[in-house]
Amino acid sequence: MEIITSIASLRTRLKRESSIALVPTMGNLHQGHLSLVQIAQQQASCTVVSIFVNRLQFAPHEDFDRYPRTQTADCHLLEKLGVDIVFLPDEKTLYPTPQEFQLLLPAVADTLEGEFRPGFFRGVATVVLKLFNIVQPQLAVFGKKDYQQLYLMQKMVQQLNLPINIMAGETVRSEDGLALSSRNSYLSELEKQKASYLFRTLFQVKQKIEQDDHNFRLLEECAKCELAKQGWTVDYIALQQRETLLPANTGDTDLVILSAAWLGQTRLIDNLEISIPSHPESSE
Ligand code: PAF
Repeated sequence: MEIITSIASLRTRLKRESSIALVPTMGNLHQGHLSLVQIAQQQASCTVVSIFVNRLQFAPHEDFDRYPRTQTADCHLLEKLGVDIVFLPDEKTLYPTPQEFQLLLPAVADTLEGEFRPGFFRGVATVVLKLFNIVQPQLAVFGKKDYQQLYLMQKMVQQLNLPINIMAGETVRSEDGLALSSRNSYLSELEKQKASYLFRTLFQVKQKIEQDDHNFRLLEECAKCELAKQGWTVDYIALQQRETLLPANTGDTDLVILSAAWLGQTRLIDNLEISIPSHPESSE
């Protein structure tokens, strides 16, 4: 495995590759990231994993400084997996001057995560577009755990005509259902025991919908109340259409429930896809 820190060296090294897959990460890798790497490896002859904690996507009051940086351990994991290249730029390499050119995103980027983290997706899209330009992969893999991010990356490559296939990796969960996330390391032992409640709440909503309860707004409100009763501070719980990420309405069949909530000082996000079988018209 090669660890490359400069853009020029990476470009030279990648010249001889005909099929490149990129897995962009901010490091502190866990099984969720590794499953994305495995998808990339099945699809391309050269897999590049980038590790870069992107200041642009953190608001000033957010956890940029304390975001876990574990590059040595990350590189060991990637080497064991047989990754070809780790791209490990420092801040001066990706942002040698202030990043004044940034992307203008569609309105959906200001909803859900975007409502609570203004500018977040602009920062994500800007760094991902830079990484795409540097690596020029044919394929990039993003996790469904960051559902809205995945959605926006798919829209970005479509609307900017980037010749990149975006693939989605399923969320990896611990046994109790908690979605793996680098931010889980902020949780205290007690909080870790409570953390799977977010997933369980989403799962209960999914079950209710599958049992024909389609009062989506009421289901959202009840789920928020349940979490609040357990001591969580909820940013949002929203049942959306998978196709548009707009609020779901009665009759929609492909849904996703998205959530963000605080347990103590830690903000966790999770989501679940929900499919409602469309009932064939009654012939009577
Ligand atoms: O999902 C992440 O880890 C980040 O948002 C990404 C895509 C690597 C951009 O910094």
